[in-house]
Amino acid sequence: MKTIPRHVAVIMDGNGRWAQSRNLPRLAGHEQGSKSIRQCVEACMETGVEFLTLYAFSSENWKRPALEVSGLMLLLERFLNEKKEEMLREGVRLRAIGRLEDLPPPCRRKLQEVCDATKNNTRLQVILALSYSGRTEILDAVKSIARDATEGSLCAEDVTPDLIASRLYTDGIPDPDLLIRTSGEMRISNFLLWQLSYTEIHVTKKLWPDFGKADFLEALEDFNGRSRRFGGV
Ligand code: IPE
Ligand code: IPE
Ligand code: MG
Repeated sequence: MKTIPRHVAVIMDGNGRWAQSRNLPRLAGHEQGSKSIRQCVEACMETGVEFLTLYAFSSENWKRPALEVSGLMLLLERFLNEKKEEMLREGVRLRAIGRLEDLPPPCRRKLQEVCDATKNNTRLQVILALSYSGRTEILDAVKSIARDATEGSLCAEDVTPDLIASRLYTDGIPDPDLLIRTSGEMRISNFLLWQLSYTEIHVTKKLWPDFGKADFLEALEDFNGRSRRFGGV
């Protein structure tokens, strides 16, 4: 492959439908889905992708039945417990974006622990979007700029795209080059609204629990065939 995207973002969708089609509870789909993450992480390490952002839980997902939400939080905690050593060994840095203060305290503590433990790793950065909303992220950035303006440390002319980007959760992380969405849905669902401005989009009908390394590589191939113009000719 000629061009490897530096940053791949994934909307991991279709866990519920995967379970439903097998007459299993939705949580069984989430559990199976968490195994697809390993496949993508391996593919990133093998191809040299530097950043992998995974949409794991949106702000809107809190509306789901309490049992599904608490099951997802337990799965997250288990995932973090199981993967910590592996990430340390393989040079993976874990980060998280979103309103992390919304997460149940044990989850938050575990997340903080793994992020801290892996913070000096540089081979691959895995960024989990948790209780994430693109609009809220922009809203928080605007509020922080407005506060500075009120205090007098900023004026309207100082507000540039770079300043806005520096107030987002993704400060210092390059914009995604490629967005993958599984399960065929053609929408962004409030994900990285600012950062996806010029991202190439790959949608596959595969449900997330069925998504494997070969599918990730297929998305990279698709990306390789794109001509990115950024508004030029
Ligand atoms: C994605 O799968 C996982 C989360 C949103 C947490 P879904 O649970 O949305 O699966 P579908 O879309 O109902 O099939
Ligand atoms: C997007 O999937 C959020 C995650 C994958 C975490 P949803 O299933 O929540 O999105 P909609 O409701 O289909 O737009
Ligand atoms: Mg869904």
